[in-house]
Amino acid sequence: MERTLVIIKPGSVLKKNTGDIISRFEKKGFNIIAIKMIQLSKDEAQSFYYCHRGKDFFKMLVEFMISGPCVPMVIEGKSVIQRIRDFIGATDPKKAEPGTIRADFGTEMPKNAVHASDSIESARFEVNFFFPDKAF
Ligand code: CMP
Repeated sequence: MERTLVIIKPGSVLKKNTGDIISRFEKKGFNIIAIKMIQLSKDEAQSFYYCHRGKDFFKMLVEFMISGPCVPMVIEGKSVIQRIRDFIGATDPKKAEPGTIRADFGTEMPKNAVHASDSIESARFEVNFFFPDKAF
């Protein structure tokens, strides 16, 4: 069993796509074990995306992530980290397979609808960041 962290990003919340996106995960049978809506501070967004610090898009990414509330959630299941990444589609919505969440709800980077952990190490950090009681 694995856990992964998914964030429904501010752009999706603003466009009222939150329910549709949650529904996509549920209809696929994914098991959401924690969820909340929060407003990230600049410090929190910079800490969450620390691995991208120094990249040319970092400032734009942080500004976007604090532009409104977002909805982080923990999803649990067998091999769920890779399965979720396949399900949401490529990071760049323009390159994402039709029918994936990022293709259907994203526009362009960093407004790619959702975030998902990309490894066991990042999932550990990210789940603990938002939901310390679900740390593994
Ligand atoms: P996410 O899964 O949240 O992980 C890091 C984010 O950085 C990524 O989705 C995109 O939103 C953003 N990102 C990655 N590459 C670029 C880029 N070249 N320009 C703008 N944003 C980017």
